[in-house]
Amino acid sequence: MTDVTATDAPATADAATDSLTVRDNRTGQSYDIAITDNTIKAADLGQIRLDEGPGLATYDPGFVNTASCRSSVTFIDGEEGILEYRGYPIEQLAEKSNFLEVAYLLIHGALPSKAEYDAWVHEITYHTFVHENVKSFTEGFRYDAHPMGMLMASTGALSTFYPDARNINDVENRHLQIVRMIAKMPTLGAWSFRHTQGKPFVYPDNDLSYTANFLSMLFKMSEQRFEADERLVKALDVLFILHADHEQNASTNAVRSVGSTQVDPYSAVSAGVGALFGPLHGGANEAVLRMLRRIGTTSEIPAFIEGVKDGNEKLMGFGHRVYKNYDPRARIIKKAAEDVFEVTGTNPLLDIALELEKIALEDEYFIKRKLYPNVDFYSGLIYEAFQFPPEMFTVLFAIGRTPGWLAQWLELVQDKEQKIARPKQIYTGDRTLDFVPASERWA
Ligand code: COA
Repeated sequence: MTDVTATDAPATADAATDSLTVRDNRTGQSYDIAITDNTIKAADLGQIRLDEGPGLATYDPGFVNTASCRSSVTFIDGEEGILEYRGYPIEQLAEKSNFLEVAYLLIHGALPSKAEYDAWVHEITYHTFVHENVKSFTEGFRYDAHPMGMLMASTGALSTFYPDARNINDVENRHLQIVRMIAKMPTLGAWSFRHTQGKPFVYPDNDLSYTANFLSMLFKMSEQRFEADERLVKALDVLFILHADHEQNASTNAVRSVGSTQVDPYSAVSAGVGALFGPLHGGANEAVLRMLRRIGTTSEIPAFIEGVKDGNEKLMGFGHRVYKNYDPRARIIKKAAEDVFEVTGTNPLLDIALELEKIALEDEYFIKRKLYPNVDFYSGLIYEAFQFPPEMFTVLFAIGRTPGWLAQWLELVQDKEQKIARPKQIYTGDRTLDFVPASERWA
């Protein structure tokens, strides 16, 4: 390995500028390890070994300080509270773009020309229908099945309808699967919702916009056409934009990890849906609403905050692995909430949320730990105003995140540096025990 040089010289001598000199105090030997992009290659540490033992490795549960890839999709500065997709600030995209244009940007890396945009919208629109058998198997779920469980299963099941998706090295084929998945996620999500409601499935209406069609598939009953209030369509579209990507978050990491086996993108994205289901990730907004309801009145907030500080529970919707500042998405969502409540009337839980935020932002416990509202703190309140049951919140997140997962997957499959994701472990169990057959153990 050329990036590492072992020397007997003192640790600081003659080290190249862009390198790290480490001294192994077990052997007294020093090593110069190349620094590139403010990282060292963990594999380079493998040269550092005691006698013939295994090379030195890093231990990083939860990947708190490990870069797993190079990516040009999304930039986050957690300290400053900055989020950019392909270089464009989230605030500008939320205000001036729409979800399908943002999806194009994420997938293609640049904003579309008029012709490219029209072709993209046309492609997505004409792939919104799913195979009729999807309907039958969705009907097979229990009446109380969680929509995320259904979405995870149906996303994975698309791989059986499109076996050609396994051909991941073909550029056009990849494009077709990406279009299919972005187009069909709202249909799958809406149908999982309709199933839990015991209502008939609504087919896509391709004369409506992406987001208006989704609302139609969710809420249409006997009317000829379901036309949602434009302000609600816009608000949901903004929410999709805010969720569209977030660099190497847990679900994207799951998509990349599974995708690194070179499986088809439906299977990889289905793993992402599974990761998103967890309450520490996409399930947090559902948990926020439960928390707000449990608090019940603003007078109960101080007692609740004390419980959080005593470590009895977490203030859901606060804190973030990356943001150590106000999550820029939370700011935009707070504004979108106002627009939605103009149409639907205020959610009484909003008062509790606002007061909770105010108290927490002034409290030493939260200040010291840099805990600020994240995207989930207010999104649940908006979703509830749309009359979504809490189980649907994460489905909405998944639909928004799909272009991001796919942009990251696309980057992964074209990245020559990537390998199958296969971490090391520190083994802590027994060794070389002698197996005693059951007949002797139980005698
Ligand atoms: N409420 C109360 N305390 C919190 C907290 C919260 N929401 N989030 C973090 N903390 C505390 C931790 O207890 C820890 O305190 P300590 O140093 O005294 O042990 C400290 O802040 C650091 O937290 P840690 O758990 O190490 O941060 P993380 O980066 O591993 O976790 C989250 C990030 C998002 C998982 C975490 O903040 C969390 O669980 N938040 C609530 C769930 C949520 O809103 N998730 C949505 C994310 S978009």
